[in-house]
Amino acid sequence: MATPERSLVLIKPDGVKRGLVGEILTRIERKGYRIVELEMMTANPEMLADHYEEHQGKEFFPALVEFMSSGPLVAAIVEGDRVIEGIRALTGKTDPTVALPGTIRGDFGRGWGPGVQQNLIHASDSTLSAEREMEIWFGWNRAD
Ligand code: RTP
Ligand code: MG
Repeated sequence: MATPERSLVLIKPDGVKRGLVGEILTRIERKGYRIVELEMMTANPEMLADHYEEHQGKEFFPALVEFMSSGPLVAAIVEGDRVIEGIRALTGKTDPTVALPGTIRGDFGRGWGPGVQQNLIHASDSTLSAEREMEIWFGWNRAD
């Protein structure tokens, strides 16, 4: 049987601080996806540099690393047909001020003034990113 598609999800430190872990996981489960790994942890800057490697060198990068290591986050691996696309649809646009109502960022996020966008959730944007990210957060290797 073919390997099911998987996405790496992070409930960012703002989501944990605001008590939205249950709400966000519930939406993922209600959509029909299966959570196959789940752990609360505090990220270190090295993991975040790997995780957000495409943003290294950008103006917001230092603030992004600071925000993402500012408190515990919840990491998960979620499985299901077209799950990468599906979770990105549940998540909504990057900027929570304009993310559509009905999405996680649209329903629970907003701007908090200058600084990096705090938008509650990360979700892999491609199968290649998902594989890289599952290795960073859970040590999952493509060959496993
Ligand atoms: P993510 O990777 O966290 O799932 O978010 P995304 O794909 O929607 O957005 P991306 O462009 O990959 O940006 C990663 C995260 O960096 C922060 N960001 N802030 N101009 C800004 O203030 C800015 N741009 C990006 C956000 O936390 C964004 O989710
Ligand atoms: Mg991204």
